[in-house]
Amino acid sequence: MRVLIVGSGGREHTLAWKLAQSPLLEKLYCAPGNAGIAKLAECIDIQADNIGGLKDWAQKQKIDLTVVGPEVPLVMGLADQFRAVGLKVFGPGEKGAMLEGSKVWAKRKMKKWGIPTADFTIFDDFDDARRHLARFYGGAVVIKADGLAAGKGVTVASGPEEAEQALYDILVERVFGDAGNRVVIENCLSGEEVSVLAITDGKKLTILPSAQDHKAIFEGDKGPNTGGMGAYSPAPIYTDKMANKTIEKVFKPLLKGFQDDGINFSGVIYAGLMVSADDFNVLEFNVRFGDPETQAIIPRMQSDLLPLLAASAEGDLKDIEPRWKDEHAVCVVISSGGYPGEYKTGYPIEGLADLEKEKDDKAAVFHAGTALKDGWIITAGGRVVGVTAWDSNLNGALKRVYGVAEKIRFEGAYYRRDIAHRALKHYK
Ligand code: AMP
Ligand code: GLY
Repeated sequence: MRVLIVGSGGREHTLAWKLAQSPLLEKLYCAPGNAGIAKLAECIDIQADNIGGLKDWAQKQKIDLTVVGPEVPLVMGLADQFRAVGLKVFGPGEKGAMLEGSKVWAKRKMKKWGIPTADFTIFDDFDDARRHLARFYGGAVVIKADGLAAGKGVTVASGPEEAEQALYDILVERVFGDAGNRVVIENCLSGEEVSVLAITDGKKLTILPSAQDHKAIFEGDKGPNTGGMGAYSPAPIYTDKMANKTIEKVFKPLLKGFQDDGINFSGVIYAGLMVSADDFNVLEFNVRFGDPETQAIIPRMQSDLLPLLAASAEGDLKDIEPRWKDEHAVCVVISSGGYPGEYKTGYPIEGLADLEKEKDDKAAVFHAGTALKDGWIITAGGRVVGVTAWDSNLNGALKRVYGVAEKIRFEGAYYRRDIAHRALKHYK
């Protein structure tokens, strides 16, 4: 098969790494890719949001399957445009992608379809929204911009001033532009977060092993939120009982809802859950693989990923049941100094060639913000690389992953040393 991956982050490198192992693969392309992906795939200089450019190129190249990494092209309707000219795509069309593209849409559907989620109200007027805050009696409240805001649209406000500021920024200052035409104000939930991903053809589902992300920049989950500083899989808080409950209360009603509404959904459904005691609520849905969850989940997959993605794209998962290694995987993200605030790029990254020579079959370095310059691999983003290692137990995986991480050096390199701290408590 001739496969195109759309995107350029650690998630896409992980997908490329796995697909490159498939005996069904004839040729792998990635648009636009990064320095790590370039070792596995031919990188094409077309940006992920240039839908017309991607479509023309894929048609000319007779691409058999396009796998879309990020949400933006899906929300822009890449899958519909590709399908209209007979190209197969892993990922939902524009209508299905609303589940991630509009929080207002997603919350209303969750309510309609009986999927557990925090109580909420929707506003488009600052004064109305501000008056509503009084109902929270000065306590915590969550403010969400409706549309895509590159992961920055949610404020978990500890009190009314912070909440009002968030409302002002979105509705009056319009810091997210049209993505902030409306806001969701919702109850603040407490507990532990877990990411549960399922691959679907619209009727059947296969659930991937659970994972937990670490969004805050500093250890102890302190400091501002990032795109994700590390992940591990499985997440012990996500018990088998909880897994069964999620299928019944989240995934099945979601698929039925899509069918009832005449929406043909295929691709990944990513449910971000807040778990407390034996109960859970959906915080958000995404319609793509998580980053960095994918870096922790996919290396645990024993069977071939390509037939599964192709089957979803063709609208029939058949009886494909992926097999998973009974191992623990941990991904640690190494970021540029200053991220998620301002940071510099262009620093050479040392240690990668030596690691390649070691040929460790239980570790991988997945590039995110890297580029090639004069034969050097240099930093080119906030999150630079993610190191994943796996082992029969979590402590073993942690030892391996940090052993590799410390060998990767560049000016200002930073990573959290407490990835999987919540899981460790479960194994004591
Ligand atoms: P979302 O994009 O909706 O997942 O929000 C991003 C992050 O905000 C989540 O991963 C949570 O950490 C946090 N969050 C969202 N909704 C809530 C909520 N109702 N209560 C507490 N935290 C939340
Ligand atoms: N890890 C969070 C996300 O992919 O949205």
